[in-house]
Amino acid sequence: MTILAQADAAAITRAADVLRSGGLVAFPTETVYGLGADATSGWAVARIYDAKGRPSFNPLIAHVADLPAAQREAALPEAATRLAEAFWPGPLTIVAPAAPGGSVSELARAGLPSVALRIPDHPVARALIAALGRPVAAPSANRSGHVSPVTAAHVAEDLSGRVDMILDGGRATAGLESTIVSFCEATPTLLRPGAIAREKIEKVLGAKLAAPARAEVLAPGMTASHYAPNARLRLEAHELREGEAALDFGGRLTALAPPGAVTLDLSPQGDLVEAAANLFSHLRALDARHVESIAVAHIPERGLGEAINDRLRRAAAPRV
Ligand code: TXA
Ligand code: MG
Repeated sequence: MTILAQADAAAITRAADVLRSGGLVAFPTETVYGLGADATSGWAVARIYDAKGRPSFNPLIAHVADLPAAQREAALPEAATRLAEAFWPGPLTIVAPAAPGGSVSELARAGLPSVALRIPDHPVARALIAALGRPVAAPSANRSGHVSPVTAAHVAEDLSGRVDMILDGGRATAGLESTIVSFCEATPTLLRPGAIAREKIEKVLGAKLAAPARAEVLAPGMTASHYAPNARLRLEAHELREGEAALDFGGRLTALAPPGAVTLDLSPQGDLVEAAANLFSHLRALDARHVESIAVAHIPERGLGEAINDRLRRAAAPRV
């Protein structure tokens, strides 16, 4: 049975007990909802893969309480510490060589010599990590390949009966997963565009981020088909075809839509932050209308547009 609870102090204490005994707790972060387990327990982490129905053991992000906790888990080079100080708590994940005495289980790292770390900027997530007193491993709280959840109701749709507890802390505001930067290569590398725009990170680094040599290998969760709604997506659409629904940006497709067409706009004003926040919930809403095909408007590639377009390309990719 899955307990669904408002994330008050008593519920967070109970959730930490669930984690301590090896259970699974879905909890809100500022990006999307996470499916959490005690990162130090291989048994607990194994349940995450089982609940998500993940085809393989992708490495997971370990969510930690503060910078010293991150430094116990990984050897952070100076540039990584600078990024941490600029963006933590917040939607930045740092991948770095795992420290010899680190506590994150081998399974959470998928056997890699590196570890992915982040301090989330959400009071419920931080209270939960503090109450457990250990890192919390958490991928997005959806079934494998589905759209990431930004509300507790989305989590329940995917994982009810498969997790022990869902903490409801309202809507995740960023609506896009964290930006992942790796410090395991010769130069800092952008493994996944996300809720912090590339330009902001490059400004703090004083250098351009490198592109991963082989993305599939470096960030194994980043397979082409991912974040997929049931409907097919047609990207860079300039008009609505017969029977298509529209996922619009800036109102252009909506203006051309025939009467009665299903249209949802990521941001009528053309604001990329608003569009990011609406992306996954609009995809879910279109699925709920049982549309078969979605025409997606052009989204500019600047700022958060890079991450939005990355998720849309994955959602549109041929399914495996
Ligand atoms: O915003 C987020 O990042 C959300 C919230 C819950 O924090 N979490 C999330 O986790 O998106 P997940 O598991 O869906 O994505 C984690 C990504 C995967 O693509 C994985 O391959 C990559 O991080 N990753 C984790 N550890 C890694 C490592 N050691 N080396 C390279 N990539 C790694
Ligand atoms: Mg995910």
